[in-house]
Amino acid sequence: MQKRETWGSRTGFVLAAVGSAIGLGNIWRFPYMVYENGGGAFLIPYFVAMLAAGIPFMILEFGLGQRFKGSAPRIFSSISRKWEWLGWWQVMVSFVIASYYVVVIAWAINYLALAFSQGWGAAPKDFFFGQFLGLTDSPMALGRVKTSIFSATAAAWIFTFIAIFSGVKSGIERVNKIFMPVLFLLVFVFIARGLSLPGAVDGVNWLFKPDFSAIMNGKVWADAFGQIFFSLSIGFGIMLSYSSYLPKKSDITNNACMTVFINCGFSVISGIMIFSVLGYMAQQQGVPIKDVAGAGVGLAFVTLPTAINLMPAPVFFGVLFFLALVVAGLSSMISITEVVVSAIIDKMNVSRKTAAVAFCGIGFMVSTAFTTGGGLYLLDIVDHFVNNFGILLGGFIEIMFIAWMCDLNSLCDHINKTSEIKVGALWMNSLRFFVPAMLGFMLVSNFIGDIKENYSGYSNEAILTYGWAVLFACMALAVFFASKERAFVGVSSSNSNFLKRS
Ligand code: PHE
Repeated sequence: MQKRETWGSRTGFVLAAVGSAIGLGNIWRFPYMVYENGGGAFLIPYFVAMLAAGIPFMILEFGLGQRFKGSAPRIFSSISRKWEWLGWWQVMVSFVIASYYVVVIAWAINYLALAFSQGWGAAPKDFFFGQFLGLTDSPMALGRVKTSIFSATAAAWIFTFIAIFSGVKSGIERVNKIFMPVLFLLVFVFIARGLSLPGAVDGVNWLFKPDFSAIMNGKVWADAFGQIFFSLSIGFGIMLSYSSYLPKKSDITNNACMTVFINCGFSVISGIMIFSVLGYMAQQQGVPIKDVAGAGVGLAFVTLPTAINLMPAPVFFGVLFFLALVVAGLSSMISITEVVVSAIIDKMNVSRKTAAVAFCGIGFMVSTAFTTGGGLYLLDIVDHFVNNFGILLGGFIEIMFIAWMCDLNSLCDHINKTSEIKVGALWMNSLRFFVPAMLGFMLVSNFIGDIKENYSGYSNEAILTYGWAVLFACMALAVFFASKERAFVGVSSSNSNFLKRS
């Protein structure tokens, strides 16, 4: 059996975990969530979610990964063979996310190039949906592959491939050690200049202006938890596989807290970046800020280019912003690819190189669907279903299984043995009661919402094909992979003591 690789240093591990956590979600989702859900008052549920669910869950995943040393399927399989499918479910969900996340990075790569001359022209909205995406009029009509997007997708896959292929220490760790400081620098430089623009401070004040009535609203709390789970990359199998490369004597709790704080701190900083721009833009156009605020694709590829056109140093701001998106995206992309690659290595006992070639090749082919004229619709629907059900369900079942059916006390002891900050009853109770209650609530309310009404008004056909059918296929494949007999090499039988005997 090959010896399991380890991270070169503690900083390297934390930067890689941070690299995964900080992604498009921090830059284009967090600011809007704050703004949508009561401004500054949203920070209360957000920080509650961070402390009461984010940190405990992160400690749990780091602890499991470090103790059982494996990819998600291997970890669950070594606890109980019957639960291996859960790991494969997380792998399948990660596979799907990787296949479209890379395409968003590809858009950002194109926009980075365009930023040197504001190549998006005077009407960024028409440019983006028209010339750039070549958007068709229905998700069932995919149209042609767009060459510029396709080539950038290939480039992003190749970059990811090289990082994964080169191994944990010389690939993943090295990239993150360069990317994370660069990312912080880009955003700080942007803010340093951006805040002095007229109206910028108003934008930031507007973002944080609290509306305390929002705290009484259940949706606000669900959004805060959803944002925490997605943003911290927990429940995807990512942190499980990253922490499986931790050496024996690693501090768990401290590393988990650091990862969470750096990620959430970065979210607040990107909120300031985005809203300083929106504040400036609103002032230039003489409209209220709420008319320019938005999230996701529209924010990054329509609103920001529009604002950049109005700015005094458009090339400077444009290049900084899109470079930050590319850097943040690629480091998350690497982490999600590692989930799948580490699972293939473990299950088939092949080398990292073989697994990387196989997965990146297949992943790239699947990504092609998202580079077509209908790609944006496809991406929108798949993303909605995968986020609202795929990740949440994986996280919910994982926590129910570990907190209720396994010996959480022994994991607690394991973690405390090497950690500076000790965990105890509070941690276990949060995992047993609070976190599953919140996840369960979100799952049920999402489910009711999606049954009542088609997401975003898409046709039944589109929702069934790209939404429910994709989830179903993930589940079927998960069960299939789990059923394949292939003893994970090196899984010791003593691990099964972790499962409670009833
Ligand atoms: N935390 C990531 C983000 O905010 C979520 C993510 C991780 C998405 C890995 C895809 C891949 O963007």
